[in-house]
Amino acid sequence: MKRIVSGIKPTGTLTLGNYLGAIKQFVKLQQKMTDCEFYLFIADMHAITTRQVPAELRKRTLDIAAMYLACGLDRERTVLYIQSEIPQQTELGYILQSNVYMGELERMTQYKDKVAKQETSITSSLFTYPALMAADIILYDADYVPVGDDQKQHLELTRTIAQRFNNYYGDFFTVPEPLIPEVGARIMDLQNPEKKMSKSDENDKGYISMFDDEASIRRKIRSAVTDSFGIIRFDPENQPGLANLLTIYASCTDQSIEEIKDQYQDKSYKEFKDDLAEVVVGVLKPIHDAYQTIVKSQELQDILDHGRDIASDYAFKKMRKCKRKIGVGRK
Ligand code: TYM
Repeated sequence: MKRIVSGIKPTGTLTLGNYLGAIKQFVKLQQKMTDCEFYLFIADMHAITTRQVPAELRKRTLDIAAMYLACGLDRERTVLYIQSEIPQQTELGYILQSNVYMGELERMTQYKDKVAKQETSITSSLFTYPALMAADIILYDADYVPVGDDQKQHLELTRTIAQRFNNYYGDFFTVPEPLIPEVGARIMDLQNPEKKMSKSDENDKGYISMFDDEASIRRKIRSAVTDSFGIIRFDPENQPGLANLLTIYASCTDQSIEEIKDQYQDKSYKEFKDDLAEVVVGVLKPIHDAYQTIVKSQELQDILDHGRDIASDYAFKKMRKCKRKIGVGRK
């Protein structure tokens, strides 16, 4: 049986970008691929690569787990767990650090961006983060990993690490394939469409949080940056703001950009934005309502306990074999 694995880091809030780029795709795959296993986790060990307030991190971890479920995951078929509750993931992360080179890690965009911004407090775990991410995936022999475009580079490195390990020690880990959606893989910032919508952004007008109320969603879409052409067409180079809004519309409704463009060709930006706001509210409102019920429920705790037990079982066996393979320990 094929296995699909993905994760989200509980830093900042969850955005519409996370939903359209990763979560929605995961839910759709679940509906389409009935013969697969689905593992989904909250990457709290990744979150601590930058400073976190402990109580907030713990709350956000549960919020994200509840939000995942509220997005329509099939509860019977999802192994939902918290990364730190499976110690083998971190253990394998350490082993994989010995199978990745400094030069490879230095080429990672996320790390390079931080260096370019001359951030002084870059931790060593932020630098080695891709090794832990590789461990998150290959520990479970994932076949496919649904992610947004910004994770593509990490997935390529994961493949390199798995292949390198297999070449030296003999075939052991499945080499995973990324699954990146055609539309919605890179939702851009509403105020600065040159950069991706990010949950860690200080300017909250640039992103739509999945926790935003209806009024904030409408306000943010209304004030999204467009251009002075006044023509509705899909031209990411010259009209990046509008192209991003068309992408959000297409991704939320599963219509093609072509169709939407035709539908709005004689309309004003204002009319288009008003409709888009309704589309986004229509998607997020039911999720938000479901989230409110799930987050306080005992069911959430039970699902996370069950997920931890299933993931632990696989992780324990795989790590025992892995250690034997690389010659650490007595047998
Ligand atoms: P994270 O938490 O930054 O993002 C979670 C998922 O959301 C996608 N995403 C986006 N998609 C479209 N447009 C955007 N603006 C946007 N912003 C984020 C990301 O591509 C991702 O799929 N390192 C990962 C978490 C992780 C992981 C893993 C993922 C840790 N281990 C193993 C998959 C498999 C991260 O920081 O994603």
